[in-house]
Amino acid sequence: TKVNEYIEKLASTHQLSLDAYEYLITHRDEEAMELAARKARNLSQSIYGKAIYVRGLIEFTNICKNDCFYCGIRKDAHCSRYRLDMDDILSCCAEGYDLGFRTFVLQGGEDAYFDDDRLCDIVSHIHASYPDCAITLSVGERSKESYQRLYDAGAQRYLLRHETANQQHYHQLHPASMSFTHRMQCIQDLRDIGYAVGVGMMVQSPYQTAHHLAQDLKFVETFHPEMCGIGPYITAQDTPFHDQPSGSVELTLYLISLLRLIYPPMLIPATTALGTMDPVGREKGVLAGANVVMPNLSPVSVRRKYQLYDNKICIGDESAQCRHCLENRMDRIGYTVVTDRGDIKVWD
Ligand code: 5AD
Ligand code: FES
Repeated sequence: TKVNEYIEKLASTHQLSLDAYEYLITHRDEEAMELAARKARNLSQSIYGKAIYVRGLIEFTNICKNDCFYCGIRKDAHCSRYRLDMDDILSCCAEGYDLGFRTFVLQGGEDAYFDDDRLCDIVSHIHASYPDCAITLSVGERSKESYQRLYDAGAQRYLLRHETANQQHYHQLHPASMSFTHRMQCIQDLRDIGYAVGVGMMVQSPYQTAHHLAQDLKFVETFHPEMCGIGPYITAQDTPFHDQPSGSVELTLYLISLLRLIYPPMLIPATTALGTMDPVGREKGVLAGANVVMPNLSPVSVRRKYQLYDNKICIGDESAQCRHCLENRMDRIGYTVVTDRGDIKVWD
């Protein structure tokens, strides 16, 4: 079939036209998804073997100045707010280090309290205490000067999902105070400074079309981000999208496979959102071509407050439980969680 031909072509050339990407999405069937997954798995294994990288996720503030229509911690949502302080964050890292994490992801809302001085202070403390670890930031849009200061303080990676590569769609997901151009500029600034950059999008977010997803794939094909995180959009209560249906696991898995074929060495997480929509979603993610998992390292006392979407998993589990849970899950499908910074591998 034409779909299978496109998959074969993508697996060998790592690029397709925008129309071909759209065709791959709209004409997918069981056989195509299995073919893409098999090729993606094989490519991933040829580069990373059966090693799965782990990142310790520290959700350090749920205070946010933005009002993204899909997000459960948006400014106007009535959730209980918290911030971790330096000591809380360093304790998370200490616990994480003992559990074998060599990457810490500091994720939070766009919280003005964490200005450059405060955030750089945190980053440099972690960097000094754990010089063998990578520090990843995921704190939204900031100025290029700010990104530079954080980089100089010791952060080498940054996750800033583009959310959608289509400008009109971007504005259907965000209030007028946010701009697509600015977000893309931030992503470019991060790259120019020298960060390993992570982008990503939700799958089947409200108003998303196959054309938009094709544009997301084209963006990854041209930008070659070091990381790309995708998960199904999941309904979040107390948001303008509270009655919009969640996205599907099946389409997310297929897109993970296509992303692997587009840029084989890319770091692709099997996300918590995938695990929330399917009890074995993360295992399926790895079998579709993902090679990263991100267990929760946040203190249990704040976990239920960082509810980006409804029914998020890992809410009640201690960090050690979360870490071991994922290790067992990977073992059961024949993969091994490794203690490693997990940098992207150089590829042709
Ligand atoms: N469903 C799925 N993912 C979401 N995110 C935010 N809200 C939701 C939701 N309702 C994702 C966004 C953001 C990342 C931190 O979490 O893509 O970039
Ligand atoms: Fe968190 Fe399983 S990964 S409890």
